[in-house]
Amino acid sequence: MSLNTIDVPASKPYRVMIGPGALDGLGGQAAALCPKAERVCVVSDDAVYPLHGEKAVSSLREAGLAAEAYVLPHGEASKNTDNLIALLNFLTERRFTRSDVLVALGGGVIGDLAGFAAAVYMRGVAYIQCPTTLLSAVDSSVGGKTAVDLPAGKNLMGAFWQPKCVLCDTDTLDTLPDDVFTDGCAEVIKTAILFDPSLFASLSIRGKGFDRADVIARCVRHKSDIVEKDEFDTGLRGLLNLGHTLGHAAELCSDYTLSHGRAVAIGTAVVSRAAARGGFCGHDLPEAVCAILTRFGLPTVTDIPIDRLMEPMLSDKKRSGGVVNVVVPERIGKCVLRPMDAGTLRKFMESGLKP
Ligand code: GLY
Repeated sequence: MSLNTIDVPASKPYRVMIGPGALDGLGGQAAALCPKAERVCVVSDDAVYPLHGEKAVSSLREAGLAAEAYVLPHGEASKNTDNLIALLNFLTERRFTRSDVLVALGGGVIGDLAGFAAAVYMRGVAYIQCPTTLLSAVDSSVGGKTAVDLPAGKNLMGAFWQPKCVLCDTDTLDTLPDDVFTDGCAEVIKTAILFDPSLFASLSIRGKGFDRADVIARCVRHKSDIVEKDEFDTGLRGLLNLGHTLGHAAELCSDYTLSHGRAVAIGTAVVSRAAARGGFCGHDLPEAVCAILTRFGLPTVTDIPIDRLMEPMLSDKKRSGGVVNVVVPERIGKCVLRPMDAGTLRKFMESGLKP
């Protein structure tokens, strides 16, 4: 079966391969891209590894590589410094060298944590992203952002570290629980709002029955364009944070009981309503955004009060000087970054929180 391929022109370019059975090619890709590697550590979680770990490890072994697994409990709570240090200690105990390779087999949590471990282990080793959730396929596995969370907020310790390649096996999406798939749909909808009115229109009609390989490839192409222009997130890449300023704050305030995709959905609905109420777009925009989110089973409101959301919004990485750069939609396919001081941010988000 042929795979969709997208070449990401980052400072260290790499290929994203998308389609059914992509994971079968893991060993071949690792051996070809990292010819000096002898050992590979497959980092995964206890929900994903039992389903897809064997396939990944067999492919690596067939390519002549010694594969070991490192399996974490699933969920955002695992993306912490304790687990990072434990993984680094595991790599030293097993005598992984600078030529060896990490594989991130899982969703965004595993991709971010394994990627960050790869960025810092012996000042940087190669890694391969194998996203197994829709969310990581369309967003976090591409672009080289790696991180763990700190108590003050998400992704506050991290590095830019591009993978050697990304293998997105769309067969893995078949085993996703519906709520996890739905979560990823929030990032697909986000991409459509940012860059792709025709994708937005087709998703509005088809709902979750979209062609997965096709839509993932489309989202990855948009992301690749942004990474090419602003790999190190000094401007344009901030657009990818549509819905994330309030979304990350809501996740933290909920002690991560609110999933990332649902939090982004709420954040996107809030900024859309706030944008219309602030005169930055027509009222048809939040109507269309809330309609598509609802069609996908995603939330559009939260009862977390603005007083609780403000503190984490102000600790957000997107803050610079006294301002937070908020992604504000103007129409489907066009969003802009608007710097807001604390007072403006509060008024803006408070207006969007009202249904
Ligand atoms: N997930 C946002 C970014 O990669 O910049």
